[in-house]
Amino acid sequence: MTSPVELILKKRDGGTHTSEELVALVQGFLAGTIADYQMSAWLMAALIRGLDEAETTALTQAMLHSGKVLGLRSVRAPKIDKHSTGGVGDKISLCLAPLVAACGVVAPLIAGRGLGHTGGTLDKLEAIPGYRVGLEPRAFERVLREVGASIIGQSAAIAPADRRLYALRDVTGTVESTPLIVASILSKKLAAGSDGLVLDVKVGRGAFMPDLRRARALARALVRTARKAGLPTVALITDMSVPIGRTIGNALELREAIEVLHDAGPSDTRELTLVLGVEMLRLAGRAKSSAEARRLLERALADGSAFERFRRMVHAHGGDLRVIDDPDRLPRAKVRVPLLAKRSGVLRSMDPLELAWVSLGLGAGRTRAEHKVDPGAGIELCHAVGERVERGEPLAYLSAAKRSLIDAVKARAELAFELGTRAPGRRRLVLERIAR
Ligand code: URA
Repeated sequence: MTSPVELILKKRDGGTHTSEELVALVQGFLAGTIADYQMSAWLMAALIRGLDEAETTALTQAMLHSGKVLGLRSVRAPKIDKHSTGGVGDKISLCLAPLVAACGVVAPLIAGRGLGHTGGTLDKLEAIPGYRVGLEPRAFERVLREVGASIIGQSAAIAPADRRLYALRDVTGTVESTPLIVASILSKKLAAGSDGLVLDVKVGRGAFMPDLRRARALARALVRTARKAGLPTVALITDMSVPIGRTIGNALELREAIEVLHDAGPSDTRELTLVLGVEMLRLAGRAKSSAEARRLLERALADGSAFERFRRMVHAHGGDLRVIDDPDRLPRAKVRVPLLAKRSGVLRSMDPLELAWVSLGLGAGRTRAEHKVDPGAGIELCHAVGERVERGEPLAYLSAAKRSLIDAVKARAELAFELGTRAPGRRRLVLERIAR
């Protein structure tokens, strides 16, 4: 077998791996014969040198087969998975899984934790006391059968290679690589045993792909690799130039997701949920047209059935329903401080990347793999872009366990808000749809 150092040198020097080498890399890493520091070095080499299409497919398959591939055969309804490439304030999966389940589409979501500057669905769910993200495959299948929606994490059983690589990439500056993102997302998604996949590929300053050209390349690589593996997939490229909705941070985002499930909440969070839901219903064959799919989804929000599915999903995962029924009981940070506008003007932009790092500094994410997140920490945004703000009014509220954490990031947070004289142009939420 090729030694770990030879694999690193090969990629460092721009070589192309065989699929056997990639299997050896993944298996050696899981078995402990390739150390974390060696894998980190290979990941950096792969980020800089890239992987071609065959290597990307081989890495995806090696990661997929590092664990169980679920059949979910006892779940009869169409099963459609959804995944986002990572955003700021992105709580859409929390709203979407129960919403589509209420419309007859099963949502088996294998989600991730915070990655780089972005938040993770699992961290958000764990803000619910008792919620278990680590269901065993049989329990996952039972929840899907009984409730129609379940959101879990990769475990020792499902794509364990991704779980370990994800944690390492998060803290070694090796996230923003198209082939590594493709292999990470698709290894979990292919393991979940779905009939289709809808991807939300983020573009803009708060995304891993800051420009449309790179986001499009990522979307195409994801759709192509998934379809080659037999998974019908559609990707929407969506705007990540401002945070989604009004909250960043785990319990805060959960509260916003609950608002959307009550047929309220910020218009962009709701709209993104609906457009992705339309794609899921269409892929499942549940609606003949996008208009019909949208009608079904809007009805499930309005009649309370989507919220009821969310309750049932949380209950099935052992979560405390009292915080779902009364979000004021969700974990809260000890200190909450307003960030006041130093001048009057129209809010022209809110930098999602700066705000994401601020949120991390407040304790909502990790800067080392072993860190615990603070469920109550984060940012509440008081205005949408385009609104007028008067001097002295709060732009946002910052929450953390200690005042010193807020003081350390306050100046950075102030710089994230741009006030001007004229409102910016209208924001387009969905930029492109990629189906091939
Ligand atoms: N989401 C994932 O699951 N993996 C990535 O690498 C990026 C986003």
